[in-house]
Amino acid sequence: MVARVIPVDPFDLVIFGATGDLARRKILPALCRRFGEGQMPEGARIIGAARSEMSRDDFIEMVSQAFDEFLGAQAPDAAQRAAFFERLDYVAIDAMGDDGWTTLAEQMREDVVRAFYFSVAPSLFGPLAANLGKFRMITPQTRIVVEKPFGNDLQTARALNHTLAEFFDETQIYRIDHYLGKETVQNLMAVRFANIFFEPLWNARFVDHVQITVAETVGVGGRGPYYDKSGAMRDMVQNHLMQLLCLMAMEPPYKFDPDAVRDEKLKVIHALDPVAPADVVRGQYAAGPETASFADEVENANTATESYIALKVGISNWRWKGTPFYLRTGKRLRSRVSEIAVAFRDPPHSIFGEDAPWKANLLVIRLQPDEGMTLKVMIKEPGPGGMRLKNVALDMSFAEALGDDLHIPDAYERLIMDVIRGNQTLFMRGDEVEAAWAWTDPIIAAWQGSADKPAMYDPGSSGPDEALKLIHMDNRSWREIR
Ligand code: BG6
Repeated sequence: MVARVIPVDPFDLVIFGATGDLARRKILPALCRRFGEGQMPEGARIIGAARSEMSRDDFIEMVSQAFDEFLGAQAPDAAQRAAFFERLDYVAIDAMGDDGWTTLAEQMREDVVRAFYFSVAPSLFGPLAANLGKFRMITPQTRIVVEKPFGNDLQTARALNHTLAEFFDETQIYRIDHYLGKETVQNLMAVRFANIFFEPLWNARFVDHVQITVAETVGVGGRGPYYDKSGAMRDMVQNHLMQLLCLMAMEPPYKFDPDAVRDEKLKVIHALDPVAPADVVRGQYAAGPETASFADEVENANTATESYIALKVGISNWRWKGTPFYLRTGKRLRSRVSEIAVAFRDPPHSIFGEDAPWKANLLVIRLQPDEGMTLKVMIKEPGPGGMRLKNVALDMSFAEALGDDLHIPDAYERLIMDVIRGNQTLFMRGDEVEAAWAWTDPIIAAWQGSADKPAMYDPGSSGPDEALKLIHMDNRSWREIR
């Protein structure tokens, strides 16, 4: 495979929250990787900004330790680090006050792309935007990158959009959903729109149902206070699963262009049916032999927050009416797997007799791990013994198909470079985020008005039994989480 690395234009990238977990775990390693691949030109500079008073050397030492901690065997060697660190600088800054801003403003160059990455608590998004305005740092070439959570509900998301719009044009705002930067998620668009044979089948006439699964083995870890307020619905469904659903269900955009793609996704969100309480199952993990319960991890014995959720979602449009989309996501499950499974309908008539061992065709797009695709098809079992049918897998792993040295870039590598290039295709538009909340809010409101608590499930399981019933009621079953 020939990797194509197209260098971007020179830029100044400021990371607010540069000492935080996301910056150390994802953003800085992603930048180092892109640097190593030769994508950053001479004039590219990265400035860490955070509250801590520290020297440039201290910051570099911190970044170096982060590479050791989070990149393991893939950590850059000493020479690569040294070259990358030449691009780094650090400025101590008070997001809420004036300290540090003049120093930062003086470092900015006039004629290059300026990107400000808001890798901070959402309460600081507004103050940061205001200070960028106050210290005259917003040029036509300026972009901001805003991490999730983008609001907590429709009202707060709207207020945030409003605040940002006081300082920035929509074309300058890059709302990150890192799922959109995953290679296989982008591949979903390639599979759908670069091949002829899926499209005629991609509708309610031929698709029985769709399953979207994002299962994790980790618990909430040190994010207890945030997660207890958020829960799986806000943390995963409103953004990541919703994006997967949109890419899966949308009409072909007329062009692979930011607004063309986002217009089509928005239409899907508008067409989502409201979800009845009976079509939602919430779960919460219990303690295991070696792991604490969710309640203990979030330090709230009475918590009614869900660490697991399964829902059945309908889409009221010509393409999908009558084909349910089952979504599920949870923490502390049996394994880490993200996939989209498209279950096709049975053929209308069996020429092999009613007893033939039918298994409907199934297309599975594996987002992680072992990125790839499997298509389950019926064949004749070879050899004598009559026409015996068998269901087999046409299996493709990207690593095998595209070579052992294939490096699947982390989502952040792609997304940050898109910000510098000025390509918003893989970022959420303001109206899209609001529409997603408008659909999510009533589902959450229904629980808040009820005494129902999430069903408990064992860590290492595939979620609560109630989730099995949700799909069994429709005479279907979940794919196993292996
Ligand atoms: C984040 C959520 O957005 O995505 C986390 O806040 C979750 O709770 C994570 O663990 C999952 O991302 P990935 O890339 O590991 O699938």
